Amino acid sequence: MTELDALLFGEIDPPQRLLMGPGPVNAHPRVLRAMSADLLGQFDPEMTEFMNQVMALYRPVFGTQNQWTMLIDGTARAAIEASLVSLVEPGDTVLVVNFGRFGLLLTEILTRLGAKIETISAPWGQVVPLEAIADAIERVGPKVVATVHGDTSTTMAQPLEGLGSLCQAAGATVYVDATATLGGMEIAADRWGVDVVTGGLQKCLGGPSGSAPITISDRAAERIFARRHVEQGIRRADIVDGAGPRIASNYFDLAMIIDYWSDKRLNHHTEATSMLYAARECARVALGEGLDARFARHRKAGAAMTAGLRAMGLRVFGDDAHRMTNVTGVYIPEGIDGEAVRTTMREHFEIEIGTAFGPLQGKIWRLGAMGYNAMKHKVLLTLGALEACLKAQGFMLPLGEAVPAALATWEAE
Ligand SMILES: Cc1ncc(COP(=O)(O)O)c(C=O)c1O
Repeated sequence: MTELDALLFGEIDPPQRLLMGPGPVNAHPRVLRAMSADLLGQFDPEMTEFMNQVMALYRPVFGTQNQWTMLIDGTARAAIEASLVSLVEPGDTVLVVNFGRFGLLLTEILTRLGAKIETISAPWGQVVPLEAIADAIERVGPKVVATVHGDTSTTMAQPLEGLGSLCQAAGATVYVDATATLGGMEIAADRWGVDVVTGGLQKCLGGPSGSAPITISDRAAERIFARRHVEQGIRRADIVDGAGPRIASNYFDLAMIIDYWSDKRLNHHTEATSMLYAARECARVALGEGLDARFARHRKAGAAMTAGLRAMGLRVFGDDAHRMTNVTGVYIPEGIDGEAVRTTMREHFEIEIGTAFGPLQGKIWRLGAMGYNAMKHKVLLTLGALEACLKAQGFMLPLGEAVPAALATWEAE
């Protein structure tokens, strides 16, 4: 081997791993194909037309008519950060509805922004009742209420029906992180009356991470435009600054990003072309399948996974009534080395399952079945492999029960 050969490492040739954790998941082949399409200039009319198509495609995905429905370049966290930095001014009171790691992420970002943070929390494995949120809104008088829809750290889905009207009555803007549920569980931004909702591609939308869909209500956009301060080198007479304080990030300034996606086509970042192709194809795949059919497929996959785990004699984590359909937490049995099981799953079966964070680290595994992986055979393969790996670790379990139980549940759902 020459020195150059050693330096070049070889072409990327990853193993064919089945990603059955809390995301990322395997991307749909159509999405990967779309990503290999040729690049276009940022203001090429074909490119701006693709941008308009993305806006149209994501409105139904978010359950909204919001004009400002588009993409933030970056992983899901980029859209979370863009939303919070653009909505929240230092000193603003923000109520965080927190039931897991991603609720805590909201408080972390808000701390950096100098917000006055009030939190209403549920223990991990539960959600926050709407009445408790209503009480907190009355007590705190927040300018913004921020929450998560499906928190993958706990596998719980916070019910959001009714939250919007509570917040509108109190004059608060609502932000929702729907990274882990968009395209897999219903997101009804307009019916829920929530203002800003963000997602990611690498979960139920079956794409790679790196582009984050966002929708913004007119009400929230008005607040954002009040803080519009166009960057010096690209000022134009037709775009007038607002009277509010400048948004404390250039890259995540939603006023400038909206102006870029609007007919104004104000120059901001260079849109990540291949990721836009991916996001466009993710939405086309989802809408082509039909959102209701897609939600039903995720429901079947989650129910089958849960039934299979229970048939193996394992204890499923969290409140059954508020489980996400696409990720299931399960207790690692006493005396079993959770990481050793994950390693054998990966090495012998090429299947990845998830570990956990914070208070659940070492206590549960998280098994996902979402997007392109919410399929019957992938759920059954995962359960069969887990059973074999648990047996190899010496766990006494009823053999041969999990796969038939999962199959029966899939067929019955
Ligand atoms: C609910 C939720 N929010 C946010 C994120 C962060 O997403 P990303 O890693 O794409 O920034 C995740 C990722 O797991 C998530 O599950």
